[in-house]
Amino acid sequence: MPAYDRIVLVCTGKNCTQNGEGLALYDRLKTRLKQLGLINGTIKIKRSRVHCFGVCKAGPLLCVQPDGVWYYAVDEAKLELIIEQHLILGKPVTEWVFHQGPQVTCKK
Ligand code: FES
Repeated sequence: MPAYDRIVLVCTGKNCTQNGEGLALYDRLKTRLKQLGLINGTIKIKRSRVHCFGVCKAGPLLCVQPDGVWYYAVDEAKLELIIEQHLILGKPVTEWVFHQGPQVTCKK
């Protein structure tokens, strides 16, 4: 498995969104990562879907690891800014963060 700079977890469950917004966001993220060369480029981002984070409100929810940053109510416009500022520049978009967990470090 390649070493990724960040992993983006997207909730596609039905309890934090009502009309498939989480799945649409997950698909949109795939498109944008490909378009921006963020899958196999200098910056490597992996996306993964989860069925529930246990929060179940204010979705779509998105979690960026290893930073431990959780975003809420992410739409396409927010996703673009999260990609530009957080995934590319490494600066979380603080106004949409609803939880900051501990950073995860991996032993090499
Ligand atoms: S269904 Fe999304 S957090 Fe539970």
